[in-house]
Amino acid sequence: MAQTANILGPARNRVDGRAKVTGAAKYSVEFTPPKCAYAWPVESNIAKGKIAAVDAKEAQAAPGVLAIISHLNAPKPKEPAAKKERNSGHGIRNEERLPFGDDEVHYAGQYVALVVAQTIEQARYAAGLVRVTFTPEEPLLTMKAAEDKAKKPETNHDEHVQLKKGDVDATLTDSGLTKIEQTYITPTETHNPIEMSGTIAAWDGDKLTLWDATQFVKGVQSIVSRAWNLPTENVRVICPFVGGAFGCKGAVWPHVLAASMAAKAAGVPVKFHVRRQDMFTSTGHRTPTEQTIALAATRDGKLRAMRHVTNTLTSTVGEFTESCGARSTGVMYDSPAIRVEETVFPVNVSTPTFMRAPGECPGTYALECAMDELAVALKMDPVQLRLANHADNHPIKNVPFSAKHLRECYQVGAEKFGWAKRNAQPRSMRDGGLLVGWGMATKTYPAHKMNAAAKVILRADGSATVQCATHDLGTGAYTAFTQISSEQLGIPFEKVTFELGKSDFPFGPVAGGSNSTATVGTALHEVAGLLHNALAQLAVKDSKSPLYNEKADDITMVEPGRIGLKNAHAKSDSYIDILRRAGRDSIEVQSELKEPEENKKQSFQSFGADFVEVKIDPLLPRVQVTRVVSVINCGRVVTFKPARNQIIGGVNMGIGMALMEATEYDPQTGLPVIRNLADYHVVTNADAPVIDVTFVGEPDFAFNPIGCRGIGEIGITGAAAAVANAVYHATGKRVRDLPITPDKLLDIA
Ligand code: MOS
Repeated sequence: MAQTANILGPARNRVDGRAKVTGAAKYSVEFTPPKCAYAWPVESNIAKGKIAAVDAKEAQAAPGVLAIISHLNAPKPKEPAAKKERNSGHGIRNEERLPFGDDEVHYAGQYVALVVAQTIEQARYAAGLVRVTFTPEEPLLTMKAAEDKAKKPETNHDEHVQLKKGDVDATLTDSGLTKIEQTYITPTETHNPIEMSGTIAAWDGDKLTLWDATQFVKGVQSIVSRAWNLPTENVRVICPFVGGAFGCKGAVWPHVLAASMAAKAAGVPVKFHVRRQDMFTSTGHRTPTEQTIALAATRDGKLRAMRHVTNTLTSTVGEFTESCGARSTGVMYDSPAIRVEETVFPVNVSTPTFMRAPGECPGTYALECAMDELAVALKMDPVQLRLANHADNHPIKNVPFSAKHLRECYQVGAEKFGWAKRNAQPRSMRDGGLLVGWGMATKTYPAHKMNAAAKVILRADGSATVQCATHDLGTGAYTAFTQISSEQLGIPFEKVTFELGKSDFPFGPVAGGSNSTATVGTALHEVAGLLHNALAQLAVKDSKSPLYNEKADDITMVEPGRIGLKNAHAKSDSYIDILRRAGRDSIEVQSELKEPEENKKQSFQSFGADFVEVKIDPLLPRVQVTRVVSVINCGRVVTFKPARNQIIGGVNMGIGMALMEATEYDPQTGLPVIRNLADYHVVTNADAPVIDVTFVGEPDFAFNPIGCRGIGEIGITGAAAAVANAVYHATGKRVRDLPITPDKLLDIA
């Protein structure tokens, strides 16, 4: 297979690019059904306690107000019994509690009332008139405070998170080995997609339409229909475009159900567009982590033991686990002894959720910094140390990785970056008055595959429409699926229209875990086979067809636009001729939803390497990332431009994580302190370097027929570590608590 190109199609521009730049692309909250009213929330200003009273009299009398709901009067959906498998069609909830369900307050920012009015200004004004009084209780806000309630979950979804292999403790006491042990801290981080979350709910009798900014239209449909006790198809979910998500639109959050409750109460459609500040409390965040890593290696750098102990927070109304160790140390290097422990502390902070590479991202930050510290202790080059511990087999499952080309990532990256010119001595490299640092790290993300189905409508003019209830989060999925459809169906790219983002279409899973390309790609492969077979059925019965009287099973696509005999390609017929002679305007086929086949003999995981340059003025120690080389092995890439965009976005988000992103809560009250984009700093153009992206490797056909392992999340992994390692190399100072803000480097001058 190695000779097969690792890039499927040409570097396509986005098929939805024109719609987006002209404003023609309609995002969920931009739909406005007739009579649509607007919702504005009232929130708890305590982190724990009870709602003592809700006085809505004055608000009710304010202009334009149609309804005010709280736990006292809200229409009551029922609890849609929790199903936690991400792979299922049952949807995802991280906050496992109905909005306005009772008088309990579990975190600051919890919605306690919702005002619906004719205009958004009226709703906002009236919300300010709602008087809610609370009976506060002492909140649990820290790991220490929540110690008694801490849990060590065995699994996170279906993945084991407490890992044990070999005798780690004994090896760590071996005085002949070189050891390091350090604790790394990452703060709470918040997804900040340009498009805030939001839902429009419109009832028509016992039918409900939701325009919802979501990563999972079928999941929203399932949860909301169960909550209202409706047949699944009575709830329609529409989401043709998503303006970024990063995980915060994967679950059904309170605003989704709240919109449907408010629309019921008000008797008109209701638009609930989550405010930017509420994106920090009501649609999840990356939970803070405290990771202690111990490594022991021989003098020549062979790892003998690795211990990765992670403490993270979760909320009191969910069970989200950020399994850092299992997803980094559990997959990365060859070591005879590995131990991973995860402990989760429930606190009175809103529920965390998956944020781009949940687990892998903070996990690789800690592990790859620890590896850099080990390299320093061993006086070994960081790339050499990683090569010395390269894992051909999955270190825990002990089965070979499929199509792994990590050595090539290091080699190509080092060459492109000029790594050989690195002087290992910290503070040894300068650019005029600036300190220069070069750091690197390994990247990794697993290949996930779920289940999906697809429908194709092929027309006699040679064009096709392909449908799946999948999603484009701004990732380029429309373009990738158009490319895969074109290749699999044998129809020119320009003649394929790919439709997504509607629950009416065949099943697509959550656009999470970087699974969409692999999952939907597999469905497109299947449906293409069905289409070719359906055309063959027509051709073999048509006396004017060269394939007349042949067996349909002996027929396959022989070139784009033509089916023919498997063993005699010259005997063939064109799609268009077959349909025209049959007097058909079109033909339609749909694939069945099947469980994905699991190959347990191999392990499917993507890898990569980042090489980073930073420059720092020692007198004003703001870290500027000046250069990044990122080399990725992710199986086959569907089309280069959107794929490269994904890596650039991921690396930039990793730079943000390393240098600026942090969400703070008041440690006394639990009230969010950072809740807007002025205080929550993300990478802007001025912070972002040119990022040189290369893809290496081969299609991973053992994983799926398209050979793709997915690409949305690997970009962020390792990136923060590469920056932190470069900062150490520039300054000689190791900062182990992110973000590395200038105050932490004031003593380097
Ligand atoms: Mo991704 S964090 O699985 O949406």
